[in-house]
Amino acid sequence: MNNRILVTGGTGYIGSHTAVELQNNGYEVIIVDNLSNSSSEVVDNIEKITKIRPAFEQTDCCDFESLKSIMAKYSDIKAIIHFAASKAVGESIEKPLLYYRNNIVSLINLLELIPLFDIQGLVFSSSCTVYGQPDELPVSEKAPIKKAESPYGNTKQINEEIIQDIIASGANIKSIILRYFNPIGAHPSAKIGELPNGIPQNLVPYITQTAIGIRKQLNVFGNDYNTPDGYCIRDFINVVDLAKAHVVAIDRILNKRQKTPVEIFNIGTGQGLSVLELIHVFEKVTGERLNYKVVGRRSGDIEKVWANPEFANNELGWKSIETIEDTVLSAWNWQVKLNKKDKNG
Ligand code: UD1
Repeated sequence: MNNRILVTGGTGYIGSHTAVELQNNGYEVIIVDNLSNSSSEVVDNIEKITKIRPAFEQTDCCDFESLKSIMAKYSDIKAIIHFAASKAVGESIEKPLLYYRNNIVSLINLLELIPLFDIQGLVFSSSCTVYGQPDELPVSEKAPIKKAESPYGNTKQINEEIIQDIIASGANIKSIILRYFNPIGAHPSAKIGELPNGIPQNLVPYITQTAIGIRKQLNVFGNDYNTPDGYCIRDFINVVDLAKAHVVAIDRILNKRQKTPVEIFNIGTGQGLSVLELIHVFEKVTGERLNYKVVGRRSGDIEKVWANPEFANNELGWKSIETIEDTVLSAWNWQVKLNKKDKNG
């Protein structure tokens, strides 16, 4: 039997790409997802890409008993990758308790179940949001954690602390925390990608929806920042590259290569690109002209952040390889595919 990996949030954007990469690397995947922000069709599409159907259980990770029965059903789960979480920054400000409950209770449930089922470790999805506006760029894992700008960001910080505290208490749990920068793009097959619920909050789905005519215009939030062109700067990381970092992290846990019981890695390219530069890349690779307008700043936005990925490159043995051009094109191909599907029903 192949090594079994439980992937919570496995029908979501990053989770689905990770399920594909795990299966491509011989792991057996069990997806747990409540489908609150995704669809079970994603399971079919993972199967189309990999020719293997992952197991799927529609369950909320806040439901302890249900999670427990899944772990009993699929005995011998070797490790967990925990993606399942609410992730809209603005919504978290309006509904903080929803975010604290969903994002924190689910992690606590998993941490309580891990020792009962002799699971070797947990890979946790964190975010560069924990750095706030870093004092030094590129930002390394040693940079201080800044006060969170939103309940969403706070749940990432609290969850990192919960993991550190439980391990410091002597619990027999190993963990790798991955701090993602800005994941974008889609699988090259265009069979899976980002499926925003309603109006996209993130830049790239907003760009592709505007270019295809679903939205009238992209509002660009500010060009008066203290950056070379005045626009915010981000480290846009290809979602398949990001997914591969999870496979490497799982290999590291299962092969007992961790140097400490909890390790933290930045998962980014190391390159900062401004919002305007990204728009120009989009226009160049797609040949589409994007209707955009610069408007006022969005509150809570960080001016500039990009990763120092050296620790991930040298210690984890992972590096991003895709070009920004191919990545942006993959997001466009996915949008075109979605549009055709909508038209054909
Ligand atoms: C945000 C969160 C991050 C979280 C991620 C999840 C903050 C500071 N960061 O990332 O923690 O993990 O969402 O999705 O809240 N932009 C526009 N017009 C748009 C949309 C975005 O100009 O319609 C600009 C933003 O102002 C920003 C850049 O594009 O400068 C990237 O925005 P976005 O894709 O939302 O990601 P972050 O804000 O970096």
